[in-house]
Amino acid sequence: MYKIVTRRELAPNVKFIEVEAKDIAAKVQPGQFVILRLDEPGERIPLTVADFNRSKGTISIIFQEVGKTTKQLGLLQAGENITNIVGPLGQPTHIEKVGTVVCVGGGVGTASMYPITRAFKETGNKVITIIGGRSQDYIIWEKEIGVISDTLIVTTDDGSYGEKGLATKPLEEMIRKKEKIDLVIAIGPVIMMKAVSHLTKSCGIKTIVSLNPIMLDGTGMCGVCRVEVNNETRFACFHGPDFDGHLVNFDLLMHRLKTYPEEEKISLEKCEHCRK
Ligand SMILES: Cc1cc2nc3c(=O)[nH]c(=O)nc-3n(C[C@H](O)[C@H](O)[C@H](O)COP(=O)(O)OP(=O)(O)OC[C@H]3O[C@@H](n4cnc5c(N)ncnc54)[C@H](O)[C@@H]3O)c2cc1C
Ligand code: FES
Repeated sequence: MYKIVTRRELAPNVKFIEVEAKDIAAKVQPGQFVILRLDEPGERIPLTVADFNRSKGTISIIFQEVGKTTKQLGLLQAGENITNIVGPLGQPTHIEKVGTVVCVGGGVGTASMYPITRAFKETGNKVITIIGGRSQDYIIWEKEIGVISDTLIVTTDDGSYGEKGLATKPLEEMIRKKEKIDLVIAIGPVIMMKAVSHLTKSCGIKTIVSLNPIMLDGTGMCGVCRVEVNNETRFACFHGPDFDGHLVNFDLLMHRLKTYPEEEKISLEKCEHCRK
């Protein structure tokens, strides 16, 4: 059992929880994720470790309520328990001193970006962070990520806060002005990671993306999370989730993410407490 010690709402349908998970907190590195199960018959869902506190023995998770399990998770209160959490899983993000790193976080991907941004900053890089959301309500973790970035740029699709436009716009601008960029990290909706990788490919800026295919076991055994990278099959849970954005087949990933829409709809409809 893993006890939720803190819970708060960050944006519409986006929640933050801090959970007691001493063994995971002791080992987890930026870029890694966990797979949790709310109860015995529950499905296993992967969520990135958005932060960790080794001395307190806790990990933090920020999640968007999109379907049955994330909605059920959103109903749990501080003091309640999650039945299983497995992790840390996946390869940590490769952190090194490269010069100037641009971190692009879209929607809830901003949360996954936080420990990575912090690690690049602590390693002596100049960090420019761009975070984007649909509107002001969907901008999360701004204060926290601002503190660890040399420059923070906020964008909203509707212009209700920060610069109007997609999170890719400031990056496009920097590239146009030939600003020095040594590495780009992008985490967010697949379409955003695809757009960022497309932008940087033409000018040869190394770009790392964190892929989010459907996962089951999370240890490289079932093959559910397979993605195509450089025309080869890779298991995102084991080889990733980070990959070279210039080599990823994003269209295949988007297609595979839409494999079970009917089942997901039925599962949500059948979930009585999700509707309470
Ligand atoms: C490595 C990794 C890290 C992730 N980190 C985060 C995070 O930090 N915060 C966050 O909000 N979301 C994260 N996700 C996505 C999250 O796992 C899904 O939103 C969640 O599984 C949806 O489950 P559901 O039952 O609520 O919705 P469902 O209705 O079952 O599914 C809704 C959509 O979520 C995706 N999904 C469903 N089941 C899975 C699964 N087992 N594995 C992966 N995707 C699935 C599919 O695209 C599906 O269409 C991550 C995914 C991966 C692979
Ligand atoms: S989730 Fe089973 S191999 Fe990756």
